[in-house]
Amino acid sequence: MKKNNDQSNLIPESYHLMISEEQIQKKLRELGEQITRDFKDKCPILIGILNGSFIFLADLIRYIDTDVEVDFIRISSYGDGRESSGHIKILKPLSADINGRSVLVVEDIVDSGLSVKFLRKMLEAFNPAELKFVTLLNKPSKKQVNVQIDYIGFDIEDKYVVGYGLDDGQLKRNLRSIYYIE
Ligand code: IMP
Repeated sequence: MKKNNDQSNLIPESYHLMISEEQIQKKLRELGEQITRDFKDKCPILIGILNGSFIFLADLIRYIDTDVEVDFIRISSYGDGRESSGHIKILKPLSADINGRSVLVVEDIVDSGLSVKFLRKMLEAFNPAELKFVTLLNKPSKKQVNVQIDYIGFDIEDKYVVGYGLDDGQLKRNLRSIYYIE
């Protein structure tokens, strides 16, 4: 029996390592420190955007050293394809009352920027005291709209990426590192 769970049996030949597990955790520590400084004693509500951000959010909050609340929204813009359709549907609305609160939206990846634009407009209507966005990954070359992202883990090339919460046809979210597909 294999002792190390290196997940190699889950990684097809078309997958190439982009960001290792260690690099991700190092970056989360930095982001956590920044977020702690900026939100100290404000008890922010972190809103994870499902499904992709569930692992990032779960790991990130453990590097944040001030009280936080957590909520989730589920939106869909891609269906099962790899290009944004631009038609965003809310599949699970917000539960928390964000009126007058500090809010940090937690995205896995910002690609065209259409989801962030949509989320900002929707959440601003609830009158939060402040509204910021953090994303683990950002594809600068793919922007269709100008969006402000307050915290970015990694700027990446325009490649389809999987792992660490990001899916390939709903699979591979459980990979601990991030891979690009070629
Ligand atoms: P945007 O609206 O085009 O910025 O797309 C954001 C959403 O598209 C993300 O939250 C992901 O769910 C999905 N997405 C974009 N690029 C990728 C990718 O390379 N891999 C997996 N999902 C992606």
